Amino acid sequence: MSQQKLRIAVQKSGRLFEDSIRILKDAGISIDNGKEQLKTSSRNFPLEVMYLRNGDIPQYLRDGVVDVAIIGENVLVEKGKDIIKGEKLGFSKCRVSLAVPKSFKYSGIRDLDGKKIATSYPNTVNEFLAENGISADLHIINGSVEIAPNIGLADAICDIVSSGNTLFKNGLKEVEVMLKSEAVLAISPKISEERKEILKKLQFRIKSVLNART
Ligand code: PRP
Ligand code: MG
Repeated sequence: MSQQKLRIAVQKSGRLFEDSIRILKDAGISIDNGKEQLKTSSRNFPLEVMYLRNGDIPQYLRDGVVDVAIIGENVLVEKGKDIIKGEKLGFSKCRVSLAVPKSFKYSGIRDLDGKKIATSYPNTVNEFLAENGISADLHIINGSVEIAPNIGLADAICDIVSSGNTLFKNGLKEVEVMLKSEAVLAISPKISEERKEILKKLQFRIKSVLNART
């Protein structure tokens, strides 16, 4: 019998972490607690877990150094269109939206033509603007995007909206939903046949968990 293990990437810090670990545990896969050790193996399933930064995961999947990942669909849309999208996992639901200051008299996407937009999702925004025949000046920032209009850096922002609290607390209003997202199982285009067999077992267990949750 082969000693191969399926290599799965899980978000190290952020909103997906806890639910990602929970779904694996609910699937009967025991993983040592503590993500300080960035690579760990399950004791009862041929799985190696790697804790990685969200934005790096598509590249690891592309290179085939991890076989699968639990990741937000929004990250795949932004930088992983070549990655295979598997099961939706039912958690970390959010939108990727455009927002403007409450005082901005917004009547449609045309109002953003020629404006400055701060975002961590440049590809998603550019695609949306191009589809609508709009051009805008993008400022790419990696976090705290909602601060941008308040400090004069941008007229609008594009970021993840979940509860809407961050927008509200920063005096912004959501004006366009560009995409809806949730956590998914993402699969490397380079996964080996042998590891695909392990993946099938993992997918079977995950589906059972999801069925039991509904
Ligand atoms: C995320 C995201 C939004 C916010 C959305 O930011 O970038 O800002 O959460 O959630 P809400 O609608 O429930 O308020 P996060 O707190 O992860 O910080 P960061 O953007 O600085 O990384
Ligand atoms: Mg944020």
